[in-house]
Amino acid sequence: MSTTALDPALLTPESLSAGLLSRLGAREDLSRGFGRSTAAALPGAVPLLGGAPSADALPLEALHRAAADLTGDPAALVGALQYSTPGGVAPLREWVARREGVDASRVLLTNGAFHGLSLLFDALLDRGDRIVVEDPTYPLIFRDLQHHEVEVLPLPLTAEGLDLDSLEDRLEAGARPKLLYTVPDFHNPTGVVTPAFQRERLLALAEHYGFVIVSDNAYAGLAFPGVQVPEDYSTQSELVARVRTFSKILGPGLRLGYLVLPSWLVGPVTRLRANQDQHSSVLVQETVARVVGAGDHAPLDGGLDAIADRARTLYARRADLLLRLLDEGVPGGVRAAQRTGGIFLWAQVLDEGIDLAAAQRLARERFGTDAVLGRYFFLADSEEDHGRLRLGFSHLDEEALAVGAERLIAALTAPEARR
Ligand SMILES: Cc1ncc(COP(=O)(O)O)c(C=O)c1O
Repeated sequence: MSTTALDPALLTPESLSAGLLSRLGAREDLSRGFGRSTAAALPGAVPLLGGAPSADALPLEALHRAAADLTGDPAALVGALQYSTPGGVAPLREWVARREGVDASRVLLTNGAFHGLSLLFDALLDRGDRIVVEDPTYPLIFRDLQHHEVEVLPLPLTAEGLDLDSLEDRLEAGARPKLLYTVPDFHNPTGVVTPAFQRERLLALAEHYGFVIVSDNAYAGLAFPGVQVPEDYSTQSELVARVRTFSKILGPGLRLGYLVLPSWLVGPVTRLRANQDQHSSVLVQETVARVVGAGDHAPLDGGLDAIADRARTLYARRADLLLRLLDEGVPGGVRAAQRTGGIFLWAQVLDEGIDLAAAQRLARERFGTDAVLGRYFFLADSEEDHGRLRLGFSHLDEEALAVGAERLIAALTAPEARR
């Protein structure tokens, strides 16, 4: 050991951070953070933020039985406590492969959708590469994309879907993105379901110009009753990577999802994964395998689709209730063009005289509720409020939703929220 000890004055968190953090470690969080609240939530607050399944929709009994079955079987438990392979445990991987209509070698279990995206971005993106992102989009992807220092090309997304004419113009003019990130079903935040003809056209563009469609289908399976959803981007294409998760149906705390990869990406993504955390928790994979009925297990609680069916019925009711209360309570009305599934409402406040940012502040600081301002989802970081709020309703029962709605109406109609 050297005889010159470090000056104790240098052992402060500030100087250690300045001296030791990497460029990446020192980086500010560039995601726009859903309008970080400066106000602490008021006691008894009923925020309309959400983003997670309802406690009433989680398959508690099935998960309990699955965990009991696993932990009650010493041989299975020993297996679940040992190292495994990067792709995931065979029965669950094969179950996924059958559902997705691919060979199991193309499936890689991940720690949720966000992790799957991060692996794909790592495998594909170098500094200066271009990627196309829907505008508005799920902004947390920028937390990962910031590491890659890519150029982001916005692809306008409206209630009618993607503006593929503008994308085609840019491609024809020479833009060469490496990948395009899209949320095809119940898009976060807009709720848009990309129509089938746009999926086909986008795939044709990807195959013509050579970019990967990263299809983040985090809300797959959560169509409201009666809503038909087109097929996800085809796994027949070598330019499609599907990203899926069990988070929104079985619970995000499981941290389990999967990728369906084109064959040429299997090796690179598997290597990256193996060099990172090796594999997802075997205990969690084996538990989920029992719930969904993978391998020789019988599905519990009806399996994944039955569990999702109960959730989507509940969410449709909650979405309707919230929208009706807001529409009746806010002069000028509140609309949601795409109320077809998922766990958010992209609510348009029709009275342009309402300053949504001021209303949101009042909601947080005075009335005890909260919502995400629409502007946080758009690529341009501006004060323009787009007349939209993203409302999460899945986690609140009808009584709590009524309270949240009443408080949000109070904030939207307060004199201080007028422009
Ligand atoms: C579009 C989208 N992708 C990915 C995720 C993250 O999913 P996971 O919790 O499985 O990482 C979310 C969660 O809100 C999401 O909305």
